[in-house]
Amino acid sequence: MSSNNESIGKTLGVVVALCLVCAIFVSFASVQLRPFQDENKAKDIQRNILAAAGFSDVTDVKAVFEKNIEARVVNMKTGEFVDTDPNSFDFEKSKFDAKRSIKLDKETDTAGIQRMTTESPVYFAKNAQGAVESIILPVQGYGLWGVMFGFIALEPDTKTIKSINFYKHFETPGLGGEIQNAKWVSTWEGKQLPVDIVKANAAGNVHKVDGLSGATLTSKGVDNTFKFWTGENGFGPFLAKVRQGALNNG
Ligand SMILES: Cc1cc2nc3c(=O)[nH]c(=O)nc-3n(C[C@H](O)[C@H](O)[C@H](O)COP(=O)(O)O)c2cc1C
Repeated sequence: MSSNNESIGKTLGVVVALCLVCAIFVSFASVQLRPFQDENKAKDIQRNILAAAGFSDVTDVKAVFEKNIEARVVNMKTGEFVDTDPNSFDFEKSKFDAKRSIKLDKETDTAGIQRMTTESPVYFAKNAQGAVESIILPVQGYGLWGVMFGFIALEPDTKTIKSINFYKHFETPGLGGEIQNAKWVSTWEGKQLPVDIVKANAAGNVHKVDGLSGATLTSKGVDNTFKFWTGENGFGPFLAKVRQGALNNG
């Protein structure tokens, strides 16, 4: 009987010891891998900003980003530059930081995002002569199933759309997921703000883009997202400052 107890005790001891060893191993791996995960996440964001600016199939993302893109931070209310580090933003998490964000009321929150940061990074793609070729803005808005994260690239006139790039979303592949379809994305090029997403027949109208067929709700979400971020409560004040030449193009 007592030898039976001993063997149960030993078995439990081995199980607990094994769990401890595994827990220590997993925690150690998680802590050690964190810097690599953060670096990859930052690189991914840079790749998406570059894609919105028209740099595709980039291999050395960091080098191309540093050479061609200038990141600044703007105060969303005044539209003016501030000295905050652009790399201190997490496009998914920063809006939950009460110290750097506000809650949006129901009437204002047309993009369905609940909160937004009071400052935001903006990106300027510059050519070899240092002239601004596009202004890239981070945007987010609710689609059908969740928040869609993207970048919109505008010409320096702040009105003409160069490209859009929704890099993260929860929409259904083949339906709302077609927001990433290159053919649909290409229909945005050259359109002028303000833009309406319509059911059909947008061709030839610079203020209209055809919605995705079978994905009216996602299309509506993109429409809301665009209107919010290019409007008064989004980057409107910043874009107005750029138009006035008040920010000297970055
Ligand atoms: C499983 C499933 C997934 C769907 N996913 C989406 C989606 O991602 N985006 C969307 O707008 N509609 C989606 N829909 C369709 C919507 O429910 C709705 O029918 C559609 O938005 C209407 O678009 P239409 O007027 O262009 O046909 C989905 C429907 C089903 C059954």
